[in-house]
Amino acid sequence: MNTVKTGWIGLGKMGIPMSQQLIKAGYPLSVYNRSKDKEEGFKAQGIGTAASPALLLEEADVVFIMVSDDKAINDIFHGDGGLLAAKASGKIIINMSTVSPAISKEVAAACKAQGNHYLDAPVSGSVKQAEDAMLVIMVGGEAGPFEQAKPILEKMGKLVMLVGDTGAGNVAKLAINTLLGIVAQGLSETVTLAQQNGINAEALTTLIGNSALGSPFIKIKGDAIVNNNYNAAFALKHIAKDLRLAKDLGLATPLGKTAYQTYQDAEAAFGEEDIIAVIKQVNKK
Ligand SMILES: NC(=O)c1ccc[n+]([C@@H]2O[C@H](COP(=O)([O-])OP(=O)(O)OC[C@H]3O[C@@H](n4cnc5c(N)ncnc54)[C@H](OP(=O)(O)O)[C@@H]3O)[C@@H](O)[C@H]2O)c1
Repeated sequence: MNTVKTGWIGLGKMGIPMSQQLIKAGYPLSVYNRSKDKEEGFKAQGIGTAASPALLLEEADVVFIMVSDDKAINDIFHGDGGLLAAKASGKIIINMSTVSPAISKEVAAACKAQGNHYLDAPVSGSVKQAEDAMLVIMVGGEAGPFEQAKPILEKMGKLVMLVGDTGAGNVAKLAINTLLGIVAQGLSETVTLAQQNGINAEALTTLIGNSALGSPFIKIKGDAIVNNNYNAAFALKHIAKDLRLAKDLGLATPLGKTAYQTYQDAEAAFGEEDIIAVIKQVNKK
């Protein structure tokens, strides 16, 4: 049994499997989710719940956050019963959501004034990697709290790396997701060209998978196209959001600009589907 008390905010597609790794590793855990129905499975496991982020922080030593976007982070820190309302100091708050470096810097300063530490620690990998504890975790913040948090983060990932000061994890993540958006669009355009010329998706993705271009991402998303399965593992609305954040960081290169626009155009129709539903958007063109 580990003695560090952990708390988890955000029980979405990623938050559930990631927090389950802490339970598996024997950490005491309490959870909070805005929509209470998502806490039910944890209650059934005997896991405690907190009525607000502030109450969660008061009872835990290390609190993890995995929510959608900057607005969600703003609500969790500044809203009623938010983290900044907690009577708590000496805690470590680890934000694993994909958000802007700007909001990380803002809430990190507020945490410091409160007497707590903040790390941004976004992840590369999706639901499958979260379930297998094979995420890649990139961290921004101070070395002291990072070293304290590292053994816990290692329960969720295969690589945990401090990349710089507050916000550096967010910058690294947005750079990686720019590549993700470009690759998903590239695969979609490649399959579309082949299909238009009589080669089916299964044949083409099998060929790519066995070529030097083969990768776990191409395999999973190629299978999704072949099986016509666009249920979200990583919702397209999230990559649309990430490319907006990358644009705010200065993304203005040819492929980056094109990917940005494609996902913005796709979001209204396909935002709730998986990122690879971008193939439906490129087919429209
Ligand atoms: N899915 C992936 O493959 C993947 C991979 C890497 C990184 N990410 C990133 O990880 C984060 C979470 O992704 P996900 O796929 O787990 O998302 P998700 O399934 O849509 O879950 C989002 C979570 O955020 C909470 N939330 C949203 N707005 C909120 C607000 N205003 N106040 C409080 N809570 C709020 C939701 O609460 P409710 O239940 O109340 O709505 C839910 O717990 C995102 O930043 C995403 O870009 C995702």
